[in-house]
Amino acid sequence: MNTHQVKIITEDGESVCFDCGEDEDIISAGLRQDIYLMASCREGGCATCKGFCAEGDYELGKVSVQALPPEEEEEGNVLLCRCYPTSDVEIEVPYTYDRISFSPDGLGFEAEVVELSQVSCNVMKLRLQKLGDDQQIRLDSGQYYNLEIPGTDVYRSYSPANTANNHGELEFLIRIVDNGKFSSYLKNDAHVGQKINVTGPLGIFGLKENGFTPRYFVAGGTGLAPILSMVRRMKEWEEPQSCVIYFGVNTEDEVFYADELKRLQSEMSTLAVRTCVWKASDNWSGEKGSVVDILRRDLQGTGVKPDLYLCGPPGMVDATYAVCADVGIPQDKIYLEKFLPSAS
Ligand code: FES
Repeated sequence: MNTHQVKIITEDGESVCFDCGEDEDIISAGLRQDIYLMASCREGGCATCKGFCAEGDYELGKVSVQALPPEEEEEGNVLLCRCYPTSDVEIEVPYTYDRISFSPDGLGFEAEVVELSQVSCNVMKLRLQKLGDDQQIRLDSGQYYNLEIPGTDVYRSYSPANTANNHGELEFLIRIVDNGKFSSYLKNDAHVGQKINVTGPLGIFGLKENGFTPRYFVAGGTGLAPILSMVRRMKEWEEPQSCVIYFGVNTEDEVFYADELKRLQSEMSTLAVRTCVWKASDNWSGEKGSVVDILRRDLQGTGVKPDLYLCGPPGMVDATYAVCADVGIPQDKIYLEKFLPSAS
């Protein structure tokens, strides 16, 4: 078959090369040659496989506009699971070489449900225990796992709130949505003791080393999970940067983990927490209003230019992005993860 040469260049300047056949997307070509690039849905819907084509020509298959907005596509950004080279290409990816795997081992494992509980009107906590001899959870805080609904080949992606550990523990905070497949599974079929297939960790969202720059974390709803993982990691490593968690929900009954956030704050002198309720009643004593407005007020009232970590629905992330632009925070200080619609 006719092939083209693909050169993947990672953030740390390393590279890996492989052939890509005609009519083959770059992720599939890599997999065929035991090169596991960052990818999740493989349907152009999640943006995990996003890269930038620095050299060469390609055709792009169907992608979700949320995963690859038209302006990004015009600039040369591509989703590698939907990118079909028509010449040799050089692709820059936003992660380091050690995130590329050359064997499928270690990504998939079985776990057991050890806790399932409702933590707010629309969020459930799912705690899993990894099974088998290897109890290591190799996780860079901010990454996610794919959880398969038992007895099906349907999976959904969720970021855990825990940090890397040697005890096989995973803690997920999952929003219950109407007619959601994983939501239905959690509400109707999941039970303690059940086995579940897990793949991961995946994804490139995570803490960036940037000296002593303060870190502001902005979470919408269950976007708090990867943020908690990052802040818990900062605590474990005794990182000195000051940090603020902005946790936004719509109504008071959507607030969860208030005690955990309070406990974390009492144990970390560097941490402040602002829980923001958009449609708060008179009884709510915390911040009232949208998380984005409260962030804007704080940023305008200080000369600090923090690093920002955003995780939540696209509307919240985009609005926060706009606030940062207004107050002069450069784009390269913003790290984000949007919740995107599930791939079917
Ligand atoms: S893996 Fe390519 S968009 Fe999800």
